[in-house]
Amino acid sequence: MKSKKLVFLFMASSILFVAVNSCKHEIPFPVGVDTPVDGGTQTCSTDTVYFQNKVLPLLNSSCAMSGCHDAISHKDGVNLTTYSNILSTGGVRPGNPGGSKLYKVLNETGGDRMPPPPAAAFTQAQKDIIYKWILQGAKNNACNDCDTTVFTYSGAVAPLMNTYCKGCHNPASLGGGIDVSTYVSVNSIALNGKLLGSISHAAGFKAMPQGSSKFSDCKITQVQKWIAAGAANN
Ligand code: HEC
Repeated sequence: MKSKKLVFLFMASSILFVAVNSCKHEIPFPVGVDTPVDGGTQTCSTDTVYFQNKVLPLLNSSCAMSGCHDAISHKDGVNLTTYSNILSTGGVRPGNPGGSKLYKVLNETGGDRMPPPPAAAFTQAQKDIIYKWILQGAKNNACNDCDTTVFTYSGAVAPLMNTYCKGCHNPASLGGGIDVSTYVSVNSIALNGKLLGSISHAAGFKAMPQGSSKFSDCKITQVQKWIAAGAANN
């Protein structure tokens, strides 16, 4: 009798677990995210992974969307919108990536993997960002990584798209029908005015990156200069 009850409880909770985990990645909308300390005064060191420059934008665009780990849904109690919430609810153990839930879930299989299918798994480079940041003590750090004299596609625009936009705008998650994962698709929103309109929060466009703070003037200038120079694949 007792064991039957236990089996039932186990089955019921597994079903609940599966239901709760089918997080809708298609309607991303993070709410109440941190204001990234864009372009702190510190020069970036290539050996350091900075929370504000790399980790927060990655988590905001891949995990902190509506129905997932935003402030309202905080699925499984996990809220990945701010530094303090990421540390307290993401199972982060500073210095110990292997023992940190935030890192471990990236390598799980099936529906336990985060972000869950149909969203793409993190790339090795993205996993390395989380791993290294935790290993280096999971600090709330920032550095100045913007230079208006750099405005090529490969040197400025593509890295911005990858860090701040791609999590919501890729073939598996086409926010507003827009993909920023290839040059051709970024070039098309550059030429039709939507790219600059959205990041400069111009009237008539949806403000991007959605749910996060506006790009610094430096970053907007880089995109603007790239478009003015012909939005080339340079
Ligand atoms: C958290 C998810 C998310 C992030 C991050 C994000 N977007 Fe979006 N974006 C969306 C969604 C969802 C829509 C559709 C909005 C709607 O229709 O309400 C959208 C719409 C757009 C549009 C169409 C705007 C218009 O007015 O037609 C552009 C352009 C765009 N995004 C560019 C970007 C760029 C560039 C970035 C990075 C700087 C970015 N997005 C970051 C979710 C996101």
